[in-house]
Formats: sequence, structure tokens, C-alpha cells
Amino acid sequence: MFLENYIRDIQGFPKEGILFKDITPLLIDPKGTQECLKTLVSTLKNLNIDKVIGVESRGFFFGTLIAQELNVGFVPVRKPKKLPYETIFATYDIEYGTDTLEIHIDAIKKGDRILIHDDVLATGGTIKAVCELVERLGGEVMQCNFIMELSFLNGREKIKDKPIFAAITY
Ligand code: PRP
Ligand code: MG
Repeated sequence: MFLENYIRDIQGFPKEGILFKDITPLLIDPKGTQECLKTLVSTLKNLNIDKVIGVESRGFFFGTLIAQELNVGFVPVRKPKKLPYETIFATYDIEYGTDTLEIHIDAIKKGDRILIHDDVLATGGTIKAVCELVERLGGEVMQCNFIMELSFLNGREKIKDKPIFAAITY
């Protein structure tokens, strides 16, 4: 089955006018999850990734699976005040106002080759902030990968200099 068939369209969520792409049918089906994982990992073979970053919260699902598959460590980037140790943060614009993400200062060593995973690339604000966190700690972003890219929102324009892979493009 094509990966697209595991994504459910929800009209009007979280608010009117939005067509939400629901990944829970993919998560609930081990075959779909395996297929998606295989696709996400297929482009990473020669990148010598040292660590995988997953972005809270929907980036956690496949982030840890990818890290296991590559036999490397997983690092969570989290919303404010969730991480217990010393952190740095990056703030980015959302529709109304700003949002912030944090990472532990010892999560990345200088020169680490990093894969950043999130479920969706939309406007690109989130991924840009995460790239900034990685680079401030001395890591090198080898690829940003996503289950899906909403290409009509032009998110990739915000991270033009980074390699991007999306399993599905809308
Ligand atoms: C959603 C999605 C991505 C981000 C993409 O997360 O999971 O992380 O938005 O949007 P952008 O490209 O426009 O920045 P959200 O902040 O809704 O939180 P969640 O993952 O906890 O549901
Ligand atoms: Mg998210």
C-alpha cells in the first residue's frame, strides 16, 4: 500500500478552513509504520549520522525508531520547561505570536553529524529553529526529514541550505 493511504484527511481541524493530515492510521498499523521507517532511512546510508533529533511531540514517534534503525542516539527537542538539565532555546514565529523550543546543552558534541526528524514540514518555522539549536551546539545538520511536506506552504525556503527529504509531498 502507498504511504499516502495511511494518512487521513480531517477537514476543519484544528480550526475551520484547515485540512489536517492525521498520521494516527499510519502509527496504528505496523506495516505502514515499517514502510514509512524504511523510506525515511533509505536516504541516510552514506551520511554517517551520529545522532537523531526528534521534535516534540509528533517528531518523537519516528525519531526514536530511526535512531534505533541507525543504531545511534536519540535527542529530544522539547517545548519550554520540559527538559530538566541546562538548555538553550530558539524562538520562532507562528500564526499568532511566537513559540519556543529547547535542547539540552550536552546533547550534541561539536562536529556531530545530525539528522533532524519531524512529522510535517509546513511553514518551516519549527525546523529552522531546530537547525539553529543544533548549529549553536556545534552540530552539523546532514538532513532534515519528514513524513510529509506541505509544499504549498514553502517551508523549505526557510532552510534553503539544508538537505531535505519528505516521504510524502502534498
Ligand atoms: C506541528 C508539526 C510540526 C510543525 C510544522 O507541530 O508536528 O512540528 O507543526 O509546522 P511549521 O513547519 O509551520 O513550523 P505542533 O507545533 O503543532 O506540535 P505537536 O507536534 O506537538 O502536535
Ligand atoms: Mg510538531
